Amino acid sequence: MNQTLSAARPHPEPASPAPRTVRVRHADLLGFTSAVFAARGLAPERAHEAARALCYGDLTGLNSHGLVNLTRLYLPLFDEGRVDPHAEPRTVADRGAAVLIDADRALGLWVAGVAMDAAAERAAEYGIGVAAVRGATHLGCAGHHALRAVTRGMIGLVASNCGGQRIARPPGGAVTMLGTNPLSVAAPAGDHPPFVLDMSTTAAPTGRIRQAARAGRPVPEGLLRDDEGVSVTDPAAFDAGRAHLMWLGGEAGQYKGFGLGIAVEVLAALVPGAGLGAHPDALVGDGGPGGRDDDIGFFVAAVAPGALREGAEADANVLFGTLLACPPVDRAKPVRYPGWHEHRRAEEHMSTGVPLDVTVYAELAEVAADAGLAVPDVLAER
Ligand SMILES: NC(=O)c1ccc[n+]([C@@H]2O[C@H](COP(=O)([O-])OP(=O)(O)OC[C@H]3O[C@@H](n4cnc5c(N)ncnc54)[C@H](O)[C@@H]3O)[C@@H](O)[C@H]2O)c1
Repeated sequence: MNQTLSAARPHPEPASPAPRTVRVRHADLLGFTSAVFAARGLAPERAHEAARALCYGDLTGLNSHGLVNLTRLYLPLFDEGRVDPHAEPRTVADRGAAVLIDADRALGLWVAGVAMDAAAERAAEYGIGVAAVRGATHLGCAGHHALRAVTRGMIGLVASNCGGQRIARPPGGAVTMLGTNPLSVAAPAGDHPPFVLDMSTTAAPTGRIRQAARAGRPVPEGLLRDDEGVSVTDPAAFDAGRAHLMWLGGEAGQYKGFGLGIAVEVLAALVPGAGLGAHPDALVGDGGPGGRDDDIGFFVAAVAPGALREGAEADANVLFGTLLACPPVDRAKPVRYPGWHEHRRAEEHMSTGVPLDVTVYAELAEVAADAGLAVPDVLAER
């Protein structure tokens, strides 16, 4: 380096990199999101419950299904009249332990919690309770609703299909037939953070693929492949129609993920009579992703081991405590079970603020300006 030159000229300060995330208080984010839903006509308590479900994604780090979906998914549902803010879900069959609910286009973020409460009330009496729901809209993170049972000391199961929306092809098939069909099972874990398995039954939800595309980063091998079966890591290839989503299980285990996706369709759509992904409409068209995520079905169950026997809680403590005590291969990477990291992140974000991508925060600011609301204050930028 030329010392003289460098000393003679004023040295500009290196530009600090633009922040990629901002942190906001969870309470502020919740209040803001509730106000946005209330401004769309939802009653205050419903708006609050829906906001809790949406904020759960960013709070726990499942941010492919957090506030990023406010402008991309939920507000368009209101704008297009596909969700009814005043819907009154109806119980259309009641068999004691099992109920069938027609959600009448209610917001899934809210009505999935109503279904879990109904299932848990039945479980308290019968040991198990089921609420099958049709006519619903997108529920966000399935795990949030499954956890509702855990707060009552029960095990929660939530399965949701994607209504008539088709995203993934059967293995060996050339046409999309099913959605990403999420499945969650949550259970109390004694003194440990609750167990929450919460996942799409495809190798990844579309939200995660699109998130990577917006950030300009590749996705890991095993999520997408092209028509020749070659693995694709460019996430933009998915919406461009040059790659399709794989099922869970990898190349060798595709039928396990596909089977799980069908199991969700059976429970969440066949049982309540909701819209089917694999419908003859799928056979018409170009075979790419299509159909609409209207008339979504849920299968929501609560199991109360305490109604059947004593001691399940103590056994859960042993089960999850022993899993956590598993000697790791790498001491820097202790063994954890599903739900553990989400619980830890939620605790951290409750004290340091919920991280939001700056682009998502900018979208919230626009929504706030349109609705005459204040956007949550930024606590920190990084
Ligand atoms: N409503 C819908 O239509 C829809 C569709 C698809 C997905 N989703 C939601 O999207 C969210 C994200 O789904 P996903 O499939 O990307 O989940 P993911 O791949 O991030 O996680 C899947 C599961 O693996 C566990 N896990 C991940 N890493 C772990 C680790 N290191 N140690 C222990 N456990 C670990 C998680 O706790 C989780 O239970 C979920 O909340 C899901 O319900 C919703």
